[in-house]
Amino acid sequence: MEANLPENIIVLDHPLIQHKVGILRNKQTTTKEFRELVSEVAMLIGFEATRDLPLEEVEVETPIAHAKVKQLAGNKLALVPILRAGLGMVEGLLSIAPSARVGHIGLFRDHDTWQPIDYYCKLPEDIQQRDVFLLDPMVATGGSAVAALSTLKKSGAHKIKLLCIIAAREGLMKVINAHPDVDIYCAALDETLNENAYIVPGLGDAGDRIFGTK
Ligand code: PRP
Ligand code: URA
Repeated sequence: MEANLPENIIVLDHPLIQHKVGILRNKQTTTKEFRELVSEVAMLIGFEATRDLPLEEVEVETPIAHAKVKQLAGNKLALVPILRAGLGMVEGLLSIAPSARVGHIGLFRDHDTWQPIDYYCKLPEDIQQRDVFLLDPMVATGGSAVAALSTLKKSGAHKIKLLCIIAAREGLMKVINAHPDVDIYCAALDETLNENAYIVPGLGDAGDRIFGTK
């Protein structure tokens, strides 16, 4: 784990995650492989982000005897991808949380100002009762994540985790300052942004690489 970070920023150093992120960073990785890996890494991040889900004890009958077993205590989850690139993480999360509801927040960065422009929002109507995982592979300046978290909170969500794949340190700090109550899980922490506010070394434009649009 990274040193000198607030405890609500969790950088995942699992070897499988690090290996897959390395392939994501490689510009030779094909669209098909990239899409599959984003989904797999999302699932592995989700494995860690669901670590604190409450369990309850129930009794079942095995073929041999009665047994006390654990089951999830019925906490409801909502997955909210930030369009477009967050969509690439949904399937991986649904593979471990198949009953989760899925909302969508549409945001894109203005090319000149890098400010997030919102164009869509549709959330589960009981979002305030759900644990919410906000999904976006990239946190660069942090503007999109800050805006999406504000939207979620305005809709009544209050237990929110942000799951991302690569985050820039300055973006993470911006998110934490604006939303100190949110836990952030990321697979890699990069130090800088370039003159176009792309993460360095990053992996390029996540949306374009997932959907093959460039
Ligand atoms: C990307 C990415 C984040 C945002 C991060 O989306 O998926 O949402 O940029 O940048 P920020 O931290 O500086 O706000 P983009 O705006 O490129 O939209 P797209 O996914 O539709 O391509
Ligand atoms: N959005 C991306 O997809 N990549 C970056 O590096 C920055 C913003």
